[in-house]
Amino acid sequence: MTISIGIIGGSGVYDPSILDEVEEREVGTQWGAVKVKIGSYKGKKIAFMARHGEDHSVPPHLVNYRANIMALKQLGVKSIFATAAVGSLNKGMQPGDFVFIDQFIDFTKSRPQTFVEDGVVHLDLTEPYCPELRAILGKCARKLDLSYHARGNYVCAEGPRFETPAEVRMFAKLGGDLAGMTSVPEVILAREAQMCYAAIAMVTNFGAGISANKLSHQEVLDIMNENVEKLRSLIMLAVESTGDERACQCQEPPEIL
Ligand code: HPA
Repeated sequence: MTISIGIIGGSGVYDPSILDEVEEREVGTQWGAVKVKIGSYKGKKIAFMARHGEDHSVPPHLVNYRANIMALKQLGVKSIFATAAVGSLNKGMQPGDFVFIDQFIDFTKSRPQTFVEDGVVHLDLTEPYCPELRAILGKCARKLDLSYHARGNYVCAEGPRFETPAEVRMFAKLGGDLAGMTSVPEVILAREAQMCYAAIAMVTNFGAGISANKLSHQEVLDIMNENVEKLRSLIMLAVESTGDERACQCQEPPEIL
């Protein structure tokens, strides 16, 4: 059976406990080897990987995004659901809310963003996140009565530190709704590799200066843990609702010069 769906677990999501008959595999790629868990859910084969490693030992700026995405590609994955903990810059998006991001602004500084090293690819990112997978997520969230936003503009910071309040104000002025540290270059590489990709962002805190407290990774994990059952049901329903047929353009080959 082919593995057509990949799940990338972000902070707080290290365990693919929705899967049956889990088998661990190391997938070798040109960019490095990646540990993947392969299992099944409702007759579908699913590949799961923990973005930061199962012990959260890899910080956002050192994640081997190219190896992760290429490993999923080599396994035959066509659709990726990636979870992401995010801070909110928008008072309407509150801790515990899901956001199905539709745009990003890139403030990363040090990350390779392409697989193409002997040519030039100017990737079209008019719709960086797959509109069909996002629509599936919206439908599933509605069915499950979750508190969600069908779109959101994600500002990708370099991390691993949190933002200053001045950065949070700037990001919000630029039109950002959320701040995170990992969607870039993950979403870009998925598109370059011709896969559909959607992010399930979970708001874990308000950004620095909006939040009354100091920010901490523990707060991020606590909110993720409080909401992990909702996240799991959303992923299960989304996986069940996702086939291989698509009318979107994510899987069209990019132009390489
Ligand atoms: N900023 C950046 N990334 C994050 C945050 C934040 O406030 N919360 C969770 N991930």
